[in-house]
Amino acid sequence: MLGLCFHTKKLSGRVKISGSKNAALPILAATLLTDEKCVIRNVPDLEDVRITFALLRKMGKRIKFENNTVEVKGRLRNGALPEKLVRKLRASVLVMGPVLSRLGEGSFALPGGCALGERPIDIHLKGLKAMGASYSVLRGRMLFRNQRLKGAHIKLSFPSVGATENLLMAASCASGVSLIENAAVEPEIIDLCRFLKAMGASIKSAGSSYTVSGSPVLGGADFTVMPDRIEAGTFILAAAAVGGKVRIDGAEPDHLKALIKKLKASGVKINEKANSLIIIPPKITKPINIITGPYPEFPTDLQPLWAVYMLRAAGVSRIKDKIFPARFMYVDELKRLGAAMALKNAVLVINKSILSGTNLRACDLRAASAMIIAGLMADGQTRVYELRHLFRGYENFFGKLRKLGANVSMEKVKK
Ligand code: EPZ
Repeated sequence: MLGLCFHTKKLSGRVKISGSKNAALPILAATLLTDEKCVIRNVPDLEDVRITFALLRKMGKRIKFENNTVEVKGRLRNGALPEKLVRKLRASVLVMGPVLSRLGEGSFALPGGCALGERPIDIHLKGLKAMGASYSVLRGRMLFRNQRLKGAHIKLSFPSVGATENLLMAASCASGVSLIENAAVEPEIIDLCRFLKAMGASIKSAGSSYTVSGSPVLGGADFTVMPDRIEAGTFILAAAAVGGKVRIDGAEPDHLKALIKKLKASGVKINEKANSLIIIPPKITKPINIITGPYPEFPTDLQPLWAVYMLRAAGVSRIKDKIFPARFMYVDELKRLGAAMALKNAVLVINKSILSGTNLRACDLRAASAMIIAGLMADGQTRVYELRHLFRGYENFFGKLRKLGANVSMEKVKK
């Protein structure tokens, strides 16, 4: 599929945010910790979610999914993850913790890399080893055999989101108490902890530490996933970049403090309501620098969108990404629109730019949404190829943009 984007003077109206992809994926993995029925609501209908369903089915689960509610039932039978699914979805590494914690064995394909750069899992493995897991590597797979995970004191070398999630799930069914320090505290992890506690897990958090008392059996739960703060941030930045007053419904302002602070510094007015935000962009946008970092710092997933927004700022702005320093594959594509951007020592320098439409090729999920928004700012027509990246993480993105008045559509790529 390809996206057709035409210059759009302004956006206006309301958009409802879907459930969080990055909360739903670990929560779905956590259903492996019980054989009882789990009902999970507000699950976004996305490619990454459907790949996770395929993974759970392979491991013995029965899945029913309709109207954004998924019912997961059945016994965890097998801990062997098929390589093609692991290759397709980095988040499949999240089943390692639950599988080892329940079965004491499993075989997992080593993860591949992706457009954001190298995606190691050393922090995950170091934590699992501390809990007694050991593995051998054979033909690109990690083979774990006969081990009962035990509670351990684990200090992460970096507050990795995925490693924190994996180890919280592993500790929930390990024997004994685990203390996980220097862990990530993203809202999606707090949502996972809420789900685990609803299953009967005993988890206490203090700052960036979690204390987990393992229990051999967890029960089913009925749970509603939090709203997607990155999708909310994407639409907020679309309104700021294109212009026009937009209301974002279903967003949690508390999850977006770093973004809101930077937006206000650039001149955007934001009215915060209980779970809605009203965005009123300024006539003149001030250039503002950002550095991404672990929550509550500015999220790396929104830096491509911030870069596009800064193309309208009256002056020079800079972006540094401390999480994925190489997450600038989209820059060369935006330059084809006429974006005045340059990477200097892993810092992206951005100047005010006049954009004119052309053909672009998306390289990852958030770059895809950034290119589409740039296409709305550019004169004429912009075609964005490789839209498959977009479908991984945004539910009905084009429908929501059109509802805000964006002149966008999709069409099949002619062979
Ligand atoms: C999660 O990825 C998100 N994915 C990413 O969102 C997000 O960008 C990232 O966290 C950072 O916030 C999901 O939640 C499914 P990390 P994850 O482990 O868990 C290094 C999107 O667009 N690292 O916190 O893979 C790693 O290389 C996606 O929705 C190690 O060195 O991120 C990176 O530089 C993109 N060793 C940094 O830590 C490890 O064992 C952060 O990675 C693990 C990570």
